[in-house]
Amino acid sequence: MNEEYNRMIEAQDISKDAPAEEPDRQYYFMKKCRESVKKKSEELGRPLTCSLTTFGCQMNARDSEKLAGILEEIGCVRTDTEDADLVIYNTCTVRENANNKVYGRLGGLQRQKKKNPHMRIALCGCMMQEPSVVEKIRESYRFVDLIFGTHNIYKFAELLDAAWESDSMIIDLWKEGSRIVEELPSDRKYSFKSGVNIMYGCNNFCSYCIVPYVRGRERSREPGDIIREIGCLAADGVVEIMLLGQNVNSYGKTLKTPLSFAALLEKIEQIEGIERIRFMTSHPKDLSDELIGVMRRSEKICRHLHLPLQSGSSRILEKMNRRYDKAHYLELVDRLREAMPELALTTDIIVGFPGETEEDFMETMDVVRKARFDSAFTFLYSKRTGTPAAAMEEQVPQEVAKERFDRLLREVQKIASEKSAALTGRTLPVLAEQINEQDQTLLTGRLDNNSVVHFPGTADMIGKIWDIELAECRGFYYLGRRKDGLS
Ligand code: 5AD
Ligand code: SF4
Repeated sequence: MNEEYNRMIEAQDISKDAPAEEPDRQYYFMKKCRESVKKKSEELGRPLTCSLTTFGCQMNARDSEKLAGILEEIGCVRTDTEDADLVIYNTCTVRENANNKVYGRLGGLQRQKKKNPHMRIALCGCMMQEPSVVEKIRESYRFVDLIFGTHNIYKFAELLDAAWESDSMIIDLWKEGSRIVEELPSDRKYSFKSGVNIMYGCNNFCSYCIVPYVRGRERSREPGDIIREIGCLAADGVVEIMLLGQNVNSYGKTLKTPLSFAALLEKIEQIEGIERIRFMTSHPKDLSDELIGVMRRSEKICRHLHLPLQSGSSRILEKMNRRYDKAHYLELVDRLREAMPELALTTDIIVGFPGETEEDFMETMDVVRKARFDSAFTFLYSKRTGTPAAAMEEQVPQEVAKERFDRLLREVQKIASEKSAALTGRTLPVLAEQINEQDQTLLTGRLDNNSVVHFPGTADMIGKIWDIELAECRGFYYLGRRKDGLS
């Protein structure tokens, strides 16, 4: 429990009506939830438990930390299994299979709920922003207790209070976030690194993508708020931050006093205690020379850039509404590599976009070979209802797309392992992140370029940066040797 939040929560008078202003209103409901949790625990003769599962991207992971912070403040005990009194799914909808996973698991929850009548099931996140999903849950999954979306995560305590008081399904969905409510607790997964939202939503409307519909329009946070948050994180022992946004390169355009992403990075660089700065995701169309310059000069910005390509075919890129072409992407890669020869470049690629021919696919393979990505996430195109691409003719047959996907994956993996092998024998700084899951005598950490390294060490070394010799490369990770003679 955080002392400061605890004070603000305890200061609320729950015999009165809830205050109208945020974030006080949420502290009020956190206090009410605390009382409910205490009462329910006494009735049950055991702590009230909760389980929180996150699907999807880093944005969702960060939102889940906010939910977890509230759960901790109100006294729910987290469990790893789903036989809990409160089960929450923070969902993703970027591809169809993300939705299917959630529906599949809801069946299991229904059986669980029959055994535990106290149980409450809450669904939130991107999938809930789709009206057709909510309709389906309302009709076929009536045992769900609470549905909320991506814009009102901060209201979780208030919604939970309502769900505990009511026997019917509570649905609270907003089309847009009217304001960004900060100053609420969050329970970070790691004590030494943290995601920091710098903006929400997306204005790009890539024709295959559902994100702009479920996360709303682009909104940047005020730089002062971001700097303050990072300052507090640093004071709390955080050494690495990941700045999060769907398109960080267009940060600041909508602010009253516009500020570029590069200028924001320069301010963040000044914050003492922060040793590594990462960010994602960058859109190639908005990546400026100013940003390349700031990255090159920086001592803290990691030598890693995630730059989604999506397709190497200019014809398909146009249909995707990406607003760059093959030549522009390759020229950008050249500029980046020239400025920072050590830069690790990773990407996202979609295979089987409507109308993709073998020639288009070969253009993608060509960019993969020329850009030599350090790693790439490859996706089969997934039709998302409501996006322009879903209505396009010439959808690519599944078996054709799958065959291209396999070819692409082989190429991507071949290049990635060649690139990792090139670093073998070097001694580089590694941030120790956790005890190795398979071998307790090893730690697992990351290089500045985001590659994983396993090396001998003990729990007290976690959260600090160590010089490690990359003794052996095993494809996508390294086995390291300590340089302080303690291995
Ligand atoms: N089908 C397949 N992949 C998609 N992505 C986004 N929408 C779709 C879709 N409809 C991929 C993109 C994006 C990543 C997060 O997910 O490559 O960069
Ligand atoms: Fe989706 Fe394109 Fe926005 Fe990324 S930039 S979230 S792919 S619409």
